[in-house]
Amino acid sequence: EQINKGKYEHYMQKEIHEQPESLTTSMRGRLIRGGSSKKKSVLLGGLKDHLKTIRRSRRIVFIGCGTSYNAALAARPILEELSDIPVMMEIASDLLDRQAPVYRDDTIIFVSQSGETADTLNALEYARENGALCVGITNTVGSAIARNTHCGVHINAGSEIGVASTKAYTSQIVVLAMVALAIGADTVSTKQRREGIIESLLNLPGKIREVLKLDEQMKDLARSLISEQSLVMFGRGYNYATALEGALKVKEVALMHSEGILAGEMKHGLLALVDENLPIVVITTRDQCFSKQQSVIQQLKAKRSTDSYVYRRRCSNLPLQLLAYHLTVLRGYNVDQPRNLAKSVTTE
Ligand code: AGP
Repeated sequence: EQINKGKYEHYMQKEIHEQPESLTTSMRGRLIRGGSSKKKSVLLGGLKDHLKTIRRSRRIVFIGCGTSYNAALAARPILEELSDIPVMMEIASDLLDRQAPVYRDDTIIFVSQSGETADTLNALEYARENGALCVGITNTVGSAIARNTHCGVHINAGSEIGVASTKAYTSQIVVLAMVALAIGADTVSTKQRREGIIESLLNLPGKIREVLKLDEQMKDLARSLISEQSLVMFGRGYNYATALEGALKVKEVALMHSEGILAGEMKHGLLALVDENLPIVVITTRDQCFSKQQSVIQQLKAKRSTDSYVYRRRCSNLPLQLLAYHLTVLRGYNVDQPRNLAKSVTTE
C-alpha cells in the first residue's frame, strides 16, 4: 500500500484529494448495477448471514468517538428511513459512564477507523456482556474491534496517516449507507428510493472530483479567517453531522475554537453570541432542510452586514476539510500531527 505523500505536501492534503479513489474502493464489488435488467443491489459479504437478525432488532445503536461518531450521525437518517427501526446514537465513553441499558435484541454498530480506540472497545465488551448483536465498521483488517464483533464491514479506505480523519469519514458514511441499503433490501415500498441512492453513491466519486476544484476558493476563505478566535458552523438534517465534523477538523488541526451547531437550536442560545464579528459558516444543500436553512441565513443577516457562505449542492463536508487544512497551514501549525493528539486513542 502506498504510504508516501506523492505530489502532496502533507498526508492530510493527500488523503483529502484521494477521496474519489478511496470511495471507489469502498464500494467496489459491493454495489451492483446489474446488466440488461438494470437491477441495482448491494452485497455486503460480512453482514449477509446476520441481516435477518438485524431486521428483527428492537433498536439499532451506533457507537463511536470523534469523527467516527460524526460519520454514524451522518448516516443515521438514511438508516432510519430504510430500516424503519429506531436508531440511537451513543458516544462510547458516555454509554459507559451511564452504564446505559443494552438489550439482547439490540443491534449495535461500532464505528472506528483504527478499530483500536479504547473507549469504543470497552463499549463493545459491555455490549457483548449484555447479549447484543455487535457489528464492526472499521478501516483496519484484524483490529481488535474487527476481531471482537460478531460480524462487520471493512471500509477499505486505505491507510490514513494524518491524525485528522478525512477519507475514512467519507468511506464510513458510504459504507453505513450500504449497510442501510442491505438492511432495507427486502422492503418493496422503498425499492425505487434504494435504487436512487445506489445510483447517487456510484456517481459520488465524480461529484467529489468536482468539489475538490474548490481548493483555491477554500484557501481564500481560510486566508480571511486566519486571525479569528472562533468559527461557528450551522447545519441541520444530513448536514448536522457536517457541521460537527467541520468544527472538529478546525479545532484539532487549525487549533481554533470551533463549534458545530444544530441550526434548529440557534434560537435557543447561540444567537446571543452572533454579532458583526463572529465568523459563521452555514451549510445548505438542496435537501428537505433547504428552506429552513434559508430562513436561518435571513435571521443571521439581520444581525450583521457581512457574511461568507459555503454553498454546494452535495458533498458538503469536503470543502470544510479543505478549509481546515488551509487554515492550519496558513496559521503555521503541524497539519498531520496536531499537538496533544494521537491517531489512535488506546487509553481511556
Ligand atoms: C478524527 O479526526 C480524530 N482524530 C478523532 O476524533 C478520531 O476520529 C477518534 O479518536 C476515533 O478514532 P477511531 O475512528 O480510530 O475509533
